[in-house]
Amino acid sequence: MAIASTSFIEPGIVQLILCSRIADPQDANRLERDIDHIVRCAQAENARLELTGALLTDRASFAQVIEGPIASIEGMYSRIADDKRHQGVELLQYNTTHVRLLPLWPLAFVEVDCTPGIGRINGRDTPLDRRKACISVLAALRPLFG
Ligand SMILES: Cc1cc2nc3c(=O)[nH]c(=O)nc-3n(C[C@H](O)[C@H](O)[C@H](O)COP(=O)(O)O)c2cc1C
Repeated sequence: MAIASTSFIEPGIVQLILCSRIADPQDANRLERDIDHIVRCAQAENARLELTGALLTDRASFAQVIEGPIASIEGMYSRIADDKRHQGVELLQYNTTHVRLLPLWPLAFVEVDCTPGIGRINGRDTPLDRRKACISVLAALRPLFG
C-alpha cells in the first residue's frame, strides 16, 4: 500500500460503516480472546488487502469503518457478515470516495465506555439513530488516527 497522508487522493475507494451486536457478551474471558484474535488477524489481513479503518467496541456491540478497493471490500464484508462472533450486522453507510478516513491504519482498535447509539439513544433504538451516532463517532476518530 502506498504511504498515504490524510490528503492522499486514491480513486475508487469504497468505505463502509457497519455495526453489530456481540454474540455472547456475558462470557468476558472468551470475549477478550475473541476481540484480541479479531484485531490481530484483521490488522495483518487488512494491510495485505490494502484495507484501512477502525473497530470500536463497548463490549456489547461493534462499530467499524472499513475502506479500500472494491474487490477487497466485497470479500471482506462477506467474511465479516458471516462471522459467528457477532450478529445483527447492519450496513449503515456505503460511500465511494477518493480520500480514506483513516489512511494510515489497517485497523485502529478503540474501546469506548458506551458506543453511542449502538444500544439505545434517549430510550429509542432506531436504524437512523444508530447510523447517525456511529458515523459521528467514527468521524471524530479522524483527527486522532488520520
Ligand atoms: C466486528 C468484526 C469486524 C471484523 N473486521 C475484520 C477486518 O477488518 N479484517 C479482517 O481480516 N477480519 C475481520 N474480522 C474477522 C473476520 O470476520 C474473519 O473472521 C477473518 O477475516 C477470517 O476470515 P475467514 O474465517 O473467512 O478466513 C472481523 C470480525 C468481526 C466480528
